[in-house]
Amino acid sequence: MTARRNSEQTVRTSWEPLANWYDGWMGKDGSIHHRKLAVPAVMELLDPQPGEQILDIGAGQGVLAPAIHTAHAQYTGVEASPTLLRQAQKYHGNSGTFLQGDARHLTTLPGLQRASFDAAVFLLSIQDMDPLLSVLEGAAWMLRGGGRVVILMTHPCFRVPRQSGWGWQEERKLQYRRIDRYLTPLSIPLKVFPGRKQGISMSFHRPLQHYINGLAECGLLVDHMKEITTYKTATGPRAKAENLANQEIPLFLGLRSRKL
Ligand SMILES: C[S@@+](CC[C@H](N)C(=O)[O-])C[C@H]1O[C@@H](n2cnc3c(N)ncnc32)[C@H](O)[C@@H]1O
Repeated sequence: MTARRNSEQTVRTSWEPLANWYDGWMGKDGSIHHRKLAVPAVMELLDPQPGEQILDIGAGQGVLAPAIHTAHAQYTGVEASPTLLRQAQKYHGNSGTFLQGDARHLTTLPGLQRASFDAAVFLLSIQDMDPLLSVLEGAAWMLRGGGRVVILMTHPCFRVPRQSGWGWQEERKLQYRRIDRYLTPLSIPLKVFPGRKQGISMSFHRPLQHYINGLAECGLLVDHMKEITTYKTATGPRAKAENLANQEIPLFLGLRSRKL
């Protein structure tokens, strides 16, 4: 617990310094990855029912809000960055409610009450949050019994920032995935332009066991997972091998868990 609290005091993970860059890339409707892969996968795992209360933690510009609204469920987004929150209200204020807050302190955030949500979602946000347990505890606290948590993240087994990548084996005409490190948790500085000192936030690599065991520690048991490959089709001389590798090695991992 002490380590957890110490790290809370030192790690700043809001994307406020990256907000203008991120908004330029995402816009109102999200990146092509959001539209083709991430949002459809979250909606499949979440399966929101009419009238349900859905909490989106680390909501960014609220790209998930229209899909929840269309499903006739009630959307609330929590986001740490004031600039992204303003954009969320501008783009999707008609589809839901947005609150500024820190995912590590959801239990004390005005406007949120214990056991008042049917589901919580982390759409490409949990790997930008730390400590993991504080964030998962907050999500579990928000849920009614049987409520679900849906996490969509880059696949922690195959996409380790700076410690994984594609390789080419000429003899076998084979594109392979190289994993240099996996089990050790890593903190990775995020920069808009490599080499620039400004605009830094942190991202976190953790092995899969940290997510599954962290969820279980908070009374959230995984009941479904989905491994998602890229939508991209390669062209060029190595296209066959690249497409095979792209269809074998997932880009994203979706996890759904339920509160006991
Ligand atoms: C990669 S962005 C994803 C945003 C959005 N879910 C999407 O898919 O576009 C990660 C978001 O998590 C937010 N975030 C990071 N740490 C947070 C915290 N402790 N509390 C609330 N939001 C946080 C960042 O500000 C950023 O907007």
